[in-house]
Amino acid sequence: MTNTDRFSGKIAFVTGGARGIGQAVCRRLTDEGALVVIMDLPATIDALGENGGLQCVGFDLADRDTIRRAFVQAIDLVGPPDIFVACAGKKYGSGSFETVTDENWDQYIAVNLTGTFTSCQEAARAMIKAQKSGRIITVGSVNSFMSEPYVAPYASSKGGIAMLTRSMAVDLAKYKITANMIAPGPIAVLDDLSDFAKEPTVSEIRKNVALMRPGKPEECAGAVAYLASDDASFTTGTTIMIDGGASAMTFGGTRDF
Ligand SMILES: NC(=O)c1ccc[n+]([C@@H]2O[C@H](COP(=O)([O-])OP(=O)(O)OC[C@H]3O[C@@H](n4cnc5c(N)ncnc54)[C@H](O)[C@@H]3O)[C@@H](O)[C@H]2O)c1
Repeated sequence: MTNTDRFSGKIAFVTGGARGIGQAVCRRLTDEGALVVIMDLPATIDALGENGGLQCVGFDLADRDTIRRAFVQAIDLVGPPDIFVACAGKKYGSGSFETVTDENWDQYIAVNLTGTFTSCQEAARAMIKAQKSGRIITVGSVNSFMSEPYVAPYASSKGGIAMLTRSMAVDLAKYKITANMIAPGPIAVLDDLSDFAKEPTVSEIRKNVALMRPGKPEECAGAVAYLASDDASFTTGTTIMIDGGASAMTFGGTRDF
């Protein structure tokens, strides 16, 4: 529950806003007064139905031209963004490192890393042109910092987003634009809810997450809202882990509670 209007008069563009964590971010920013545009794959937007009343622009992060067109379209609709959340991403594993195909590697890098680069650059250029001291928030992962079996392309792309975010923070500081990342651990989005309720995931989460449960999309949205708010005015180039303490511990399996 939120009861502030701290984003009243602010414009936010959210990639991946039609589903999962991005959808929760859109809800939170809207609840707090922002005018939000969802940027997502046309098929995901279509599946939304009524769109929750939000404006939507279709694009494919794997295709630079569609990203640039989407920004022109979104700016025509509502004006340049004050807040840009780069949440869209390609998830899940790829098989063991020695079996990863060129095509699979290229897809993860194109969507997650190059797509995040191009969309953040378009957002930054629009903020600079409009002289807005904007907020850019990227969505990495615990896999930006730590690996696990069969995620080499995904983890590499997410590690790149961590470094990209720091680089944006440094270069965009002169425009008073901040750039920060959230790094979610296991978050139970709708598509995965049934998996999170089953073994072996229940035991794995109990063993590897200090709080012994998956996170909720709303718990990521809360951190995004903080980073987009005036409270985070002196915070740039950093990461908020939203992982229930997974990255704070190791060998959690021996806990007896
Ligand atoms: N759910 C988790 O456990 C978890 C953990 C760590 C990081 N993340 C990251 O959070 C972000 C959101 O994940 P989620 O769990 O909500 O996933 P999700 O699959 O529910 O949502 C992903 C969104 O990205 C969009 N998308 C995918 N490929 C795209 C493309 N080529 N062009 C444009 N849009 C595209 C999808 O349409 C969808 O709306 C992702 O970047 C993911 O890597 C999720």
